[in-house]
Amino acid sequence: MSQAPSGAHRPAGFQGYYRQPSGTEDAELTHVTPGTPCGEYLRRYWQPVAMSSELGELPLALRILGEDLVLFRDKSAQVGLLHKHCAHRGASLEYGLPAERGIICCYHGWHFDIDGTVIRAGSEPADSPICRRVVQGAYPVEERNGLLFAYLGPPQERPALPLYDTELMPDATSKPFSIATPCNWLQVYENTQDPIHVLHLHARSSGVQFGVASGVDQLIEYQTTPLGLINIQTRHVGAHLWTRITDSILPNANQTGAIWEEAQAPKFMQRCSMLRWMVPVDNTTTRTIGWRFFSERLDPRGQDQPDLVGKESIDFIGQTAAERSYAESQRQPGDFEAQVSQRPIAIHALENRAASDAGVARLRHLLRERIRALAAGEPPFHPHTGALPYVATYCQDTVDRWHGAGVPDDDALRAQGRKVANAVLQSAQLPAAAREAYVRDAVRGLE
Ligand code: FES
Ligand SMILES: [Fe+2]
Repeated sequence: MSQAPSGAHRPAGFQGYYRQPSGTEDAELTHVTPGTPCGEYLRRYWQPVAMSSELGELPLALRILGEDLVLFRDKSAQVGLLHKHCAHRGASLEYGLPAERGIICCYHGWHFDIDGTVIRAGSEPADSPICRRVVQGAYPVEERNGLLFAYLGPPQERPALPLYDTELMPDATSKPFSIATPCNWLQVYENTQDPIHVLHLHARSSGVQFGVASGVDQLIEYQTTPLGLINIQTRHVGAHLWTRITDSILPNANQTGAIWEEAQAPKFMQRCSMLRWMVPVDNTTTRTIGWRFFSERLDPRGQDQPDLVGKESIDFIGQTAAERSYAESQRQPGDFEAQVSQRPIAIHALENRAASDAGVARLRHLLRERIRALAAGEPPFHPHTGALPYVATYCQDTVDRWHGAGVPDDDALRAQGRKVANAVLQSAQLPAAAREAYVRDAVRGLE
């Protein structure tokens, strides 16, 4: 029997009239304001809200998870994060005066401590009962290495601010950054479990935007971890196999390997170039806040530009609107253009997801499970440190010689990726300095 032309089974063309996009966003995963299921889930975790360098002598107005807030440093160097509108009659505390302790509202002089309690209600008597009746909404803040983290959840359930192993990388320096993207948080976050876009967006569509090796087609697998999800990308580059693992640390943190990796020489368990959180400002704006890490090992050819890393700026292309003209961004679109143009809130019901969207689908599934578990009364999951003084993570690059004949097939790439990922996961509880040798020996079959 003769085969029908493949086109015969395709839908007819010119269907614009019948294919008007309609559908609503997936509110369960995308809406973050107080009282929404996802908003409640994200509020159970510390979130970076600003860089220390943004907080001078004046208060800073912020929006986080749809809440209008004011961040300030009082004159004894304590940091407060209060609801923006004064509990007296609503003037914004961004016009307040930081005091020796807390902040004084400009309008009638009500004085709030960093925990929101009233120290003095303006001209009311010092022992006025109003001081015991009124409290300004406030959230705890912790400062670490140039970033200010806040916890916006129920006070009795506040976890410790986790310390990740990559924050302690020897010989690495770090620089904080904070970049706004005008779209929903999930499309910024799930981009990190969409590794096929590295090949298309960052190599084919726009020319090579990162390392040349990142433009080599990759064999991709995914694995859930104690922290969330990893993707495992294995490429054949010259005489080597390169396996990259990218971390999603739920609910909204990500770690990514060296930006300019070229996989030219063997290396094992080389750690990450960024630890960042995709923090919802509100339902349609996201602020990516984190640390960019620098070291000789991560950047042997000196391509990093720490001077470019900071507010609304980072040292690789396609992350902000401001850096290029519209025409340039059309010619060489980057992550910013791809994510923002998915609509203010991407509509999942309009997508036609394919096999290469497995990571996005798994990430959404994990988030949905955890959002529902919290709504059902289960305690939120927080990472365990085990016997270590920090949380062990998995992001890394391993490059080793390819010993096979010719070009490795998918099975060979998959086997290498699994070998690396297993070693990385199995070594999590070893001291950080021992993991490199463990992964090397495991990958080379010497363990
Ligand atoms: S509005 Fe703040 S003190 Fe009156
Ligand atoms: Fe990207």
